[in-house]
Amino acid sequence: MDRSKRTPVIAGNWKMNKSRTGTKLLIRELAPLVSNARCNVAVCVPFTDLDAAMDAARGSNIIVGAQNCHWADNGAFTGEVSASMLTETGISLCVVGHSERRQYFGETDETVNQRLKAVLGAGMACIVCVGETLDERVMDKTLGVLRRQVTAALKDIPAEEMNRVIIAYEPVWAIGTGKTATAQDAQEACKFIRFLIGELYDAKTAEAARIQYGGSMNAKNAAELLEQPDIDGGLIGGASLKAREFSAIVGAASK
Ligand code: PGA
Repeated sequence: MDRSKRTPVIAGNWKMNKSRTGTKLLIRELAPLVSNARCNVAVCVPFTDLDAAMDAARGSNIIVGAQNCHWADNGAFTGEVSASMLTETGISLCVVGHSERRQYFGETDETVNQRLKAVLGAGMACIVCVGETLDERVMDKTLGVLRRQVTAALKDIPAEEMNRVIIAYEPVWAIGTGKTATAQDAQEACKFIRFLIGELYDAKTAEAARIQYGGSMNAKNAAELLEQPDIDGGLIGGASLKAREFSAIVGAASK
């Protein structure tokens, strides 16, 4: 399969931003700007904004996603939301393993795997985030970290379900810092992730897998990153909160 057969995914990660009103306004502003996109367009919003986002996105090509979900279907997990609660709201996409969750909320490789299984089990697609810290990069451990994170995240995930898994390579040092990985570094990491998927599954699964780059992607640097052969889209934080900026990235992915 050549790269043109993989549909790029441009996903906004709104993090803990926007009220319900702000959500509706941003999605209504964004919808006409991305209506001709030749890639998948998604916005991953806070739990409390999901239904407002679904309402505003109705009739558009914008997919609404969540930013996390618990692995259990229900139970004594105060503050958590399950995959079936998301699907009941009509949600079909969820992010797991974002570095902010790993850093601040005790997310481990093992819990990322459990959450991924829950998301897939509920029939949703999943963006699984991986990426090295600055220390790990400086110590030349990037590929080792990616191997550990990708292998653990995909443990016991069957090949047939990999079409609903998107891996987001997000070097931690590039997130929200304005420092982007060079297109070459990002390409090298995404290529390695594809190689790992080939090792864990087979060549066909690896070629079909969609791998995003994330970390200070914006309207200016998107084109160069997105033209790399192993980068199939982006997970965008800061720049996804501005309709024009985000739609320019969607435009770059649609070329
Ligand atoms: P950023 O965030 O684009 O603001 O760097 C990316 C992310 O955290 O997914």
